[in-house]
Amino acid sequence: MLLKRSTTISTSTVRKFTVHPNLLFDVISAQAGTIAKAITEGIANSLDAGSTICNVTLTPTSLKIIDDGKGFGEGEEGLNHIQTFFESFGHPHEDGDARIGRYRLGRGQLFAFTANTWRTGTFQMSVDIKRRGLDYDLKDNLAAVKGCTIEGELYDQLSSHDFMTACREVEQLVAFVDMTVKLNGKTISKDPAKMKWDLVDDNAHYKFKESGPLSLYNLGFLVRDQHASYYGVSGQVVSRKKLDVNFARNDVLVSRCAVFRDIKKQLEASAGRKVERKKALTSDDRDYLAMQILSGCVDDPFEPKVVTDVTGKHHSLSKIFFFPTLPVCVAPTAHDRKGEILHGQGLSFVIARTTLDRFQCDTVDELAAKLQKAWPDQCRWEAKTLDYANATASLNDQNRLLPHKELSWEERLALKTLNDLSRTIFWAIRAGLAQTGIPCEDFKPRDFRAGESMGALAWTDCETYVAIERRHLRTLHNGLDDVFNVLMTVCHEASHDEADTATHDHTLEFYERFHNLAGASAVKWGSLAVRIADRLVRLNAEEGRKSKNALLRATAYASASQKDPEFSEAQLAS
Ligand SMILES: Nc1ncnc2c1ncn2[C@@H]1O[C@H](COP(=O)(O)OP(=O)(O)OP(=O)(O)O)[C@@H](O)[C@H]1O
Ligand SMILES: [Mg+2]
Repeated sequence: MLLKRSTTISTSTVRKFTVHPNLLFDVISAQAGTIAKAITEGIANSLDAGSTICNVTLTPTSLKIIDDGKGFGEGEEGLNHIQTFFESFGHPHEDGDARIGRYRLGRGQLFAFTANTWRTGTFQMSVDIKRRGLDYDLKDNLAAVKGCTIEGELYDQLSSHDFMTACREVEQLVAFVDMTVKLNGKTISKDPAKMKWDLVDDNAHYKFKESGPLSLYNLGFLVRDQHASYYGVSGQVVSRKKLDVNFARNDVLVSRCAVFRDIKKQLEASAGRKVERKKALTSDDRDYLAMQILSGCVDDPFEPKVVTDVTGKHHSLSKIFFFPTLPVCVAPTAHDRKGEILHGQGLSFVIARTTLDRFQCDTVDELAAKLQKAWPDQCRWEAKTLDYANATASLNDQNRLLPHKELSWEERLALKTLNDLSRTIFWAIRAGLAQTGIPCEDFKPRDFRAGESMGALAWTDCETYVAIERRHLRTLHNGLDDVFNVLMTVCHEASHDEADTATHDHTLEFYERFHNLAGASAVKWGSLAVRIADRLVRLNAEEGRKSKNALLRATAYASASQKDPEFSEAQLAS
């Protein structure tokens, strides 16, 4: 028997996705960021309504926004307006019909934070999405009023901290709106047209700063703070034209926004001029330049100093790629002690990990590959590399204090010299610390000790002793310049506020203390150096040792200075 074949014919139809009303509810309640953002949406709407002033009153429990704009209108026209633009979410805008408004959603943020009543023209709309969901009350035929007033009761009361934060955030968000915006009676917006800028073009007002983020404003409303390394500049940019922003209005849709693309070009040109002008680059400048190098946007990739070595000095890429004289090694942290030893001994060019981070690479080879891709016509770069763990395995970074009997006569006499004068030296340093405002009640004279170290010139336990590395100690015999160097080493050690016997980290605070102490007028570094040289010459003589000529010359200063107290300083200054 033959089976009957199925005769079903396949069909195809075009269908449409639809939206469940719950989605609208979710969009309204979930798009909200902060109460400050919601208030800013209200202010943006006032601007779009052509208002000259928008008066905001915020308390921990209530919100009021009053403007003098065109409102929603009256009668039929007003009703139509309300039905199309207030009642319905997402109604498309026509090109140029609003300065800020874009998605016809923004008022939802006010709904999310408050139960509110809108009074405009002859109408009143009352909204309370928490209690009534998507239903709202509309009243008509009321006495006509100008503008629009929104009065809301906050769903969640603000703590005093949240209240203050909200006020501050609103101020930041509307800083350059060209309409008077008042918050609790205080004017918080400035018209950019009436301000001084570094640069104004068709697209934006630009104000540049030396450091900090780059704050981008869409027609005066803050969009976002961008890290300075991103475009290479810090400061403020206030667009004069509408930017294409995302729903949350906290980012620009760069691929769609032609205005921003032009602004970006202007920023990049300004970054280039800034970097040319500036002698000392900041770490943000270096991060930016690294990205510019990788994207092929600089004239010469070997010029900018974007390679930071382990000691904190900066070099160009040629140091590791062009004609590398040493193998490159990557230290895990800046000022890594073993890395500094390796670097100092000239065994390797040790770069700090930050250099690779700057180029968003994990290894030097990866960096080389990225650079070759960006600059294929340049010579082939090959960096010889050393593994940090292997290279430093045999390095002894321990400091050892030397017993007296191990010292040579030069070391012994140099040490005695310093110890004979230790009270003079440390009380002078204490006066210097006091002058620069560094707490020094507990600062007492310390003993000088001789030590041995592969990497450190000196170290201290910050309490009882300062150890000077034996080779450094011996240089005291070489003359006034070396005496002065040793004295600066002591100044360095006195600037540590924690023992540097185990680690040798130098924080920014350390450098500041060192800088202030070295420059403190209360410490007569020159006179101290002369006294040290003079004492060493005498001790040498007492033991029948011959002092070097350069050291003897220093004593001429000393004896002259004893006759004329002004002599030494005058001589040393000349
Ligand atoms: N203060 C006001 N005065 C007059 N009309 C207003 C006011 N606030 C809102 N409207 C009307 O309500 C509409 C909806 O506002 P809503 O903030 O939701 O959307 P939008 O401003 O058009 O776009 P966006 O989602 O980008 O904010 C506005 O387009 C405007 O027609
Ligand atoms: Mg809006």
